[in-house]
Amino acid sequence: MTIDLLIRDAEVFDGSGAPPRRADVAVDGDRITGIGSLRADARREIDAGGLALSPGFIDVHTHDDYAALVHPDMAFKVCGGVTTCIVGNCGLGAAPWPVAAFQARAFHPQHDLPEWDGYAGYLRQLDATPPSLNVGALIGHGTLRLGAMNNEARAPEPAEMERLRAGVREGLDAGAFGLSTGLIYDPGRHAKTDELIELTSELRGSGALYATHMRDEGTGLLESVREAIEIGERAGVPVQISHHKASGRDAWGLVHDSLGLIESAQARGVDVHADQYPYTAGSTVLAAVVTMLDAPDRKSGGRSENLVPADVVIATAAGHPEWEGRSIAELMPELGLDGPATCRHVLEHAPQTTVVMHSMDEADVQTVMRHPSTMIGSDGLPTPEGRPHPRLYGTFARVLGHYSRDLGLFPLEEAVWRMTGFAARKFGLSDRGAVREGAFADLVLFDPATVIDVGTFEEPNAYPAGIVHVWVNGVPVVSNGKHTHARPGRALRRTTALRDTTALRDTDAPRT
Ligand code: ZN
Ligand code: CU
Repeated sequence: MTIDLLIRDAEVFDGSGAPPRRADVAVDGDRITGIGSLRADARREIDAGGLALSPGFIDVHTHDDYAALVHPDMAFKVCGGVTTCIVGNCGLGAAPWPVAAFQARAFHPQHDLPEWDGYAGYLRQLDATPPSLNVGALIGHGTLRLGAMNNEARAPEPAEMERLRAGVREGLDAGAFGLSTGLIYDPGRHAKTDELIELTSELRGSGALYATHMRDEGTGLLESVREAIEIGERAGVPVQISHHKASGRDAWGLVHDSLGLIESAQARGVDVHADQYPYTAGSTVLAAVVTMLDAPDRKSGGRSENLVPADVVIATAAGHPEWEGRSIAELMPELGLDGPATCRHVLEHAPQTTVVMHSMDEADVQTVMRHPSTMIGSDGLPTPEGRPHPRLYGTFARVLGHYSRDLGLFPLEEAVWRMTGFAARKFGLSDRGAVREGAFADLVLFDPATVIDVGTFEEPNAYPAGIVHVWVNGVPVVSNGKHTHARPGRALRRTTALRDTTALRDTDAPRT
């Protein structure tokens, strides 16, 4: 019998956290069919020469809902070894249309955005025009709320609540992996804890999770983590804290306590984990940052991240490339305006402007990364036309090369676990995130000695080094570092309620 592919002599990291072992890996169709010392006739044979073979990376925190359709090659992800993206984070979801398309304009100002009906329609669109990688969706609370009741700063009326619930149910029935919130953004910030518990309760028993960009990642971090845990605990649903960090100087160091809150919640049986991108700078839309400069005192309605204008650098400003790469502090004297007024001026001319905020402490980034509750998610904003935060391209290579190999934060097998097996288990992605017989052949062959992120804040649009071959569902999408233009990705749907909280908790620590 002739199989499709035989990868010979690889250092196999199976995604479980176990140390690597030297083996051949056989692939037939879309599945891994053998691991070991293999003899087989194969249509294609690759001599790995001892390079690392691991499950394809799972980017659990993305905003690629529309990117998967308008940039279906997804080169900024697959060339870095990513084979699956979870979209719909931070409350920004793919339905209902046209609210979803309106929000997505921030990332895709110069593209026509396609139309569909609900999450079922979105996933069918991906089925019909597949991207190069797999996509699983979260239901965006903010998008649903904007569709149900515009940007009203109040609790939903009963009829509005019914529309929100119906939206959540539609997404779940379509196969979404969870519900996400963005509680610093309009309209998510108008939602009180009770509303979120009520909606999250719709997920109970389904295996889907609650993922949250919390209300305050500054000095209010601990209250935010408590709220996230309370929502999951009272709804009886697993929790994923998005991009765990302490943002703004006054908040630095709080991650020790926020990690403590996660630990104590886990100890009483709550299924709570987090994701993180490996940088000391964040990135979002400028519109969400103005308030941070405006009113540093949270009680006055502003936020507690106390950013100064020099911390905030314009990433992508449609129609104003001359602003890209420059900080608000640099623009202030030119415009003769103060920080908030400069932001408003920029927003008047380029409403969809995105920014990079240099707001975190390196020690905190490492403290969070080392913690067993943390998996990896890029939070990349898919704006390759501008100057996006380099995390869009480099997140996974940076954890492998910089944090694991160069700084020795953890062994390579643990780095791989945090971006494959751990993520697949938390999100309930069946038969992915593992190199084992019968699993889908989402694979990446990389050189542990040279893998590294290459993009910088000045020149972010660069593919990482050391990523040699990438397969999605058995099909090569990157070959010798070059995109093959194949588009074998699939719309993933939550299949069963296969997760149970204790099972995940017991296997948090990689098996070594
Ligand atoms: Zn976010
Ligand atoms: Cu995000």
